[in-house]
Amino acid sequence: MKMDEHALKLENVSKTFAKRDEDDNGRRGLRRWLGAAIRRGTKSHVVDDVSFSVPRGAIYGVLGPNGSGKSTLVRMISTLLLPDAGTITVFGHDVVDESLAIRRMINRVSVDAAFFKKLSPIENLVYAGRLYGMAAPAAVERAGHILGRLGFEEKRIGRPMEELSRGMQQKVAIARGFLTSPVLLLLDEPTTGLDPKSKRDVQEFIKELRADHDATILLTTHDMAEAEGLCNRIAVLDKGKVIAFDTADGLKAMCRKDDGLPSLEDVFIQLTGKRLEEDEQKEE
Ligand SMILES: Nc1ncnc2c1ncn2[C@@H]1O[C@H](COP(=O)(O)OP(=O)(O)OP(=O)(O)O)[C@@H](O)[C@H]1O
Ligand SMILES: [Mg+2]
Repeated sequence: MKMDEHALKLENVSKTFAKRDEDDNGRRGLRRWLGAAIRRGTKSHVVDDVSFSVPRGAIYGVLGPNGSGKSTLVRMISTLLLPDAGTITVFGHDVVDESLAIRRMINRVSVDAAFFKKLSPIENLVYAGRLYGMAAPAAVERAGHILGRLGFEEKRIGRPMEELSRGMQQKVAIARGFLTSPVLLLLDEPTTGLDPKSKRDVQEFIKELRADHDATILLTTHDMAEAEGLCNRIAVLDKGKVIAFDTADGLKAMCRKDDGLPSLEDVFIQLTGKRLEEDEQKEE
């Protein structure tokens, strides 16, 4: 494997979802009553011609307003959704044609992670480890180590998942993502819902993974400091399109005003807010 090889390459990737004008659960009446302005046969371009590459060993971020297509993009990379157009490759393997090979190389952490709720964190993690071909004792050891690092209370490790708070469940989701040291790690808002100390623990862990395990990471976040602290480069997504792609400093320089460099938050609002105004003008 060459060092300059791209871990992840997206070329002209698009995804459209059909806007439905009726539900199959008998809610049509309600919709009609509400006068839902959902037109038959219309499509929304959720991911629209996205191209960028992530070199091996880098952490790249995807920022964007709610609904801009970040999770959809991550789901396509992780083979959970098929792109309508374009190609996605992970170390040269196509996500559509070689989905099984891809699944062995990647892992995804998301806020909507699913677990066996009646089973404990450790049982869930060992199960996940076994799916990836880890021996149970090795999975127990690594899971325990990661949960310890994330400040997960030891006494809860054997309690059912359903008894845990959302933040605690998120830590288990993160532990599951880090369990197998995947070559490409997809982190979809990994620290959303975590307290400040836990957030910092996770961020330190992410840095460590890059340094020690040569992991390549794609991260979505709404935390600008996190993006700035972790990401080598940032793609700003708005309405499915990449509207900027640069380092945090590059993005700031791009949006520089007379009174000095803006914060990344200013950049975000400037970039994604401007397009709103443009759209309004277009519609007029
Ligand atoms: N399965 C689906 N069917 C129809 N529309 C969908 C589906 N999944 C996502 N969408 C729509 O696609 C758009 C993008 O959603 P997505 O979850 O990718 O956004 P996001 O950038 O991750 O937002 P957030 O910051 O809130 O997590 C939204 O308008 C959403 O309603
Ligand atoms: Mg999302």
